[in-house]
Parts: sequence; C-alpha cells; structure tokens
Amino acid sequence: MAKKKQDRMDKLVSLCKRRGFIFPSSQIYGGISGLWDFGPLGAELKRNVRDDWWLMNVRRRDDVVGMDTSIITHPEVWKASGHLDGFHDELVDCKSCKQRFRTDKIDGDKCPECGGELTDPRKFHLMFRTQLGAIADESLEVYLRPETCQSLFLNFKEIQSVARVKVPFGIAQVGKSFRNEVTPRNFIFRSREFEQMEIEFFCHADEENKWFDDWLAKRQQWFLDIGIKPERLRSMPHDDKELAHYAKKAVDLQYEFPFGWQEIEGIHNRGDFDLSQHTKFSGKDLSYFDEATGNKYTPSCIESSVGLDRTVLALLCDAYEEEPERVVLRFSPMIAPIKAGVFPLVKKDGLAELAQKIEHDLRKKFATVYDGGGSIGRRYRRQDEIGTPFGITVDYETLENETVTLRERDSMDQRRLKIAELAGTIEKACVRQS
Ligand code: GAP
Repeated sequence: MAKKKQDRMDKLVSLCKRRGFIFPSSQIYGGISGLWDFGPLGAELKRNVRDDWWLMNVRRRDDVVGMDTSIITHPEVWKASGHLDGFHDELVDCKSCKQRFRTDKIDGDKCPECGGELTDPRKFHLMFRTQLGAIADESLEVYLRPETCQSLFLNFKEIQSVARVKVPFGIAQVGKSFRNEVTPRNFIFRSREFEQMEIEFFCHADEENKWFDDWLAKRQQWFLDIGIKPERLRSMPHDDKELAHYAKKAVDLQYEFPFGWQEIEGIHNRGDFDLSQHTKFSGKDLSYFDEATGNKYTPSCIESSVGLDRTVLALLCDAYEEEPERVVLRFSPMIAPIKAGVFPLVKKDGLAELAQKIEHDLRKKFATVYDGGGSIGRRYRRQDEIGTPFGITVDYETLENETVTLRERDSMDQRRLKIAELAGTIEKACVRQS
C-alpha cells in the first residue's frame, strides 16, 4: 500500500515536471534543495487558488482588508514575536548512515533507519539572516520573514485609521515566507521559500470563541469549494502540549497526502499575545479604543494561516487519477490552469484559422490554448493530463452552421454547440457561482 502511494506520488512529481507545473529551482546548475520554480501551468494554478482565496476572504467581506507588506522588517519584530529565541529545530545525525532527523519526529535514542548511534542534539535556527546596507560595520542584521503575519500586527493601528475599520475586523495578506528548513521534503510540501495566505482577525476577548468557530467553518468550506474531496480533509485540535508559544487554542486543517495526513492550514486563537508583545517592544500603544462603549482594551486575534504551495500540492494529489486509457487531473474547473483547448479537426480548408480565431476570442476572458498537432484523441489526452475541463473541436460542420464539438474532460461526453454559446458555457462552469 505504502509503495503504491509512493509510486503515485512519483508519477505526479514527474507529470508536474514534464508538463511544466513545478520543477526544481536552478535546474541547469543541478537544482537546489527545498527551492522550486512554478512553470506556466503551475503559475496559473497557483494564481487561481490565490485569487479565489483573496476573493472569498478579502473582497467579499466588509470586515477584512488586504495588505502587501515588506518581506524584511525591523529585526526587533522577531525579538518581540519570539522567533529570535524560539524558532529552531533540534536535530540529531546518525553516526552510521549519516541521515539527519528532527528529534521531535523520532522515538527513542537510536537511528530509525539503521538502528545506529545518534549524535547529541544540536539546534538549527530556521530564519534566514542577511545584512541591510552596504558597509559591513554599519549594516543592520535583518531576517527574511518566516511568516507573513507579523506586519499585520505592526499595522493594526495604522489600518484602523486609513481603512476606517472597527473591531471586529481582519487584515489579510498573501506573500512569500522563508524558513531554512533542515529537512525539506515531500516535493513542495516543506520548502525553504513558500507562499502563505494569512488573516489576522481582531475581536473582543468575549467573542474569541465565536469567531474561532466561525473562521474554522469558513476555512473548511473553502477547501471543499476549490475541489478538495471531503474525505481527504479533516480538522485536528492541538492538545495543550502541542500549542505554539503564542496560542491559546489551535486546530489544524489536515489533508490526506499520499505520504499521510499533514497540516495544510492552522487556525489559532493568538489571544492578545502579538499586540501586547509589539506594544512592549516598540513602546507604541496598540490597544483599541471602543468609541461606542468608551472602553480601551487589547483585542484578541484569531488567525487563519494557510500555505499556498501546500494547498496546490493537495489539489494536485486530489485531482490525479490514472484510468486505463488516460491520466487525468480532475481539477475543479474553477481552479484548472487552462479552461479550454481548441483544436481544428484537420489543418486545411480554413479549419485551423477558424479554430485560432475562436481560441483568440475566448482568450480575452479565459486561459485557453490552441493545439493543431496530432490526432484529436491525442490532443484530448494532452489536455486531460493537465486538467483542462473543455475540449473544443472545429470541423467541416463548423463551416456550415457555426457549431463546434464541446467535449467534457470528466465524462468525455461530446455535444454540438453554437460558437456564440461557448463563452457562456465555459463561464458557468469555471467562474465561481456562489
Ligand atoms: N503565522 C502562523 C504560521 O506561520 P505555521 O503553522 O508555521 O503557522 C502556516 O505555518 C502554514 O504555512 C502551514 O499550515 C503550511 O501550510 C505553510 N507552511 C509552513 N511551513 C512551510 C514550509 N516549510 N513549506 C511550505 N509550506 C509551509
């Protein structure tokens, strides 16, 4: 069973590379561990997921606003957040087989692979360090952010005045985070550079449980909306021993990857930890004055933190299916990188030009592709393998009555449709309807 799952994962990784979803960074130099490049299809897929997250969590809400903050911040931020002192992994090396393990991931004091003797544990800091400024003596030691959320706390006061929002309200952002992971693994699951989508939702402490439950339910629903199978998604509360230093309560949303159930998102009640810490370290008051009641207090914060790359990996694993005749990525049409492929039955008698015109017209609204090479069957298969929901074939009948064949990826059913009806049909399937 484990071997079957590993084979499946290997095939998916190979498909991602071959079809241009995701491949190792700096390939011509031999690649570099824990760093990945997203090719044309991967970039579209990622963008669709990111855009839907933004739509549902920012645009459609009148109580959440978005930000896009700098990756490098004042280094004091990481003292206040607790990262400078506490953000490290403890590692041991096997003296026989030389493999490296995180101490929190192994049982006992022997190598889990070969039973060999292990070194004493050593601590590895997970933040990337760099210098700000050109002159070594005067430059400031700074860090690439290991999470996107800290700047949302720093801007808590500023956002209230510029966006005229009142508690309860949230601040959201999508952006790159960096962690010098000592054991990057499982394709893009644990990388050293990745994208996070985070919301910090500020509320009165009396309402923190209500908002926690509300966000948990909404975030679960979002994964189902983008096509994750319900049986492969579960929520796992943290017990007291597992809680991060900043958290009062936490629930992980986990996906069943071929390599097991793993976290894709964390929902945390961070209480007033962050606003209080930044008040203490910066000397700037980050409390909230409630004009309606005349009360001043430091709000609690409910956090939703999801990895975009991990979500993309979950979607790829979820969509991948092998059938006797074909490999198909059954993406939800809403997030599929390409919405339709347009094919001329043959390239002569004006069919190629007509197919290109149809494709160019559709391209104004959707990501589409024209493919004129090989048998129609092969062209359908090529699109199935990258998850394109629709295939459109232009044939001799098109010249007579302006209809085309529309073929659906999942059912493989084909029907005739007027060219004028194509955009509406694709829109209905591929644009969020609720
Ligand atoms: N602000 C809270 C926070 O960063 P986290 O559990 O460390 O919490 C949140 O990270 C999410 O970010 C994870 O659920 C995961 O999806 C993603 N993530 C964390 N480390 C990652 C890594 N090394 N590679 C890819 N995604 C990662």
